[in-house]
Amino acid sequence: MFPDTNFILLQGDSMELIGQFPDKSFNAIFADPPYFLSNGGISVHSGKAVCVDKGDWDKGGTPEHIYQYNKQWLYLCREKLTDNGSIWISGTYHNIFAVANCLTELGYKILNVITWQKSDPPPNLSCRYFNFSTEYIIWARKSAKVPHVFNYEVMKQMNGEKQMTDVWRIPAVGSWEKHCGKHPTQKPLRLLYRIILACTNEGDTILDPFAGSCTTGIAANLLGRNFVGIEQEKEFVELGQRRKQEIEDPVSAQKILKKMRENPEEVMVLVNHARKELREKMIVNGICYMRAGESKGSLQVAPGFERMKYLLLHTNGENVQLYKLKTPGKFKIWTKETLEEHGFSPEHAKYYVVLEFDNKPIYFKKIPQLKQRSNTYKAKIIPLSEIMDLR
Ligand SMILES: C[S@@+](CC[C@H](N)C(=O)[O-])C[C@H]1O[C@@H](n2cnc3c(N)ncnc32)[C@H](O)[C@@H]1O
Repeated sequence: MFPDTNFILLQGDSMELIGQFPDKSFNAIFADPPYFLSNGGISVHSGKAVCVDKGDWDKGGTPEHIYQYNKQWLYLCREKLTDNGSIWISGTYHNIFAVANCLTELGYKILNVITWQKSDPPPNLSCRYFNFSTEYIIWARKSAKVPHVFNYEVMKQMNGEKQMTDVWRIPAVGSWEKHCGKHPTQKPLRLLYRIILACTNEGDTILDPFAGSCTTGIAANLLGRNFVGIEQEKEFVELGQRRKQEIEDPVSAQKILKKMRENPEEVMVLVNHARKELREKMIVNGICYMRAGESKGSLQVAPGFERMKYLLLHTNGENVQLYKLKTPGKFKIWTKETLEEHGFSPEHAKYYVVLEFDNKPIYFKKIPQLKQRSNTYKAKIIPLSEIMDLR
């Protein structure tokens, strides 16, 4: 159907181009349409008052115009989705209610309205309102009758084994996402990462009819999905192409993938080596202990500790097993004597960091490569996504 490439970016008007794709071409659509907000307002950037206008493409129309505009492109998109496909549309209160009404009228079924809570919103200058810190993303499927793709387990794992909720705390776009230039309404890669993992599988094809800087395309390709984008402005098409070129370099691609997977809110895992007999004893007792501090076999309590929910126990990279901590983010300090009372024989220090865990192992897909020597012995806290194969 499409040329043999995982990244197609067309310059033109979506209203004309969407209709030209064969029906059922896309497993998912992400759309970040104009919010029609560029009407001379002001906001704060780096401590300075700045105009919020994004460009002519975002200049406001009447409510009727906004409604008709959204209805037209949403109508065109519906036939292009596979029967089990779904669509995500981002917006603010200015356009999102019109979008929701159009979706329902066109026969889509709304699945969720995600609230994206920006963990670092700019301040509100007027001080006459609560600060605006959210955007909404409506998730809808093509049809009321056919079930949609939802990778429920992946979302649950990303959320520390708890059902993922419809409130997502994710920071705004970071400087690491702007190496190739910036778009005035660029979405964070971390947002697209979650969306794409939630509703598609490797090899699927995703359409973005308002591609901008191609955030959707970059996240899609890094996750092994194909991308088709439409963008009307030459300047942004070129920015999207530069971003694609950036991830053609495997080193840059790995760096960006790593950053994209990181979530400052993410659940953390303590990785700890113990020799075989000790590891087995720890598992029986549901108690893991380490020396505190910098030396071999010790744990330095660092930021991220408070988000630690799992323990990964291993012996020199072998027999790797994952457990849930009894109390996330909490540890106890025990003396050598207290550990001895629990049947252990610690030899190296007077005080130990102790974590209690539920000794029923948790299944996980990807066993990390734990290199032997210092890397294996040093206890460390890593993001959960580093040990999960989420692709
Ligand atoms: C809100 S921005 C999308 C930003 C994008 N999500 C990103 O992360 O960079 C909307 C984009 O849609 C483009 N656009 C607006 N109307 C369009 C249309 N009818 N056809 C194609 N592109 C359009 C604008 O030029 C703008 O770059």
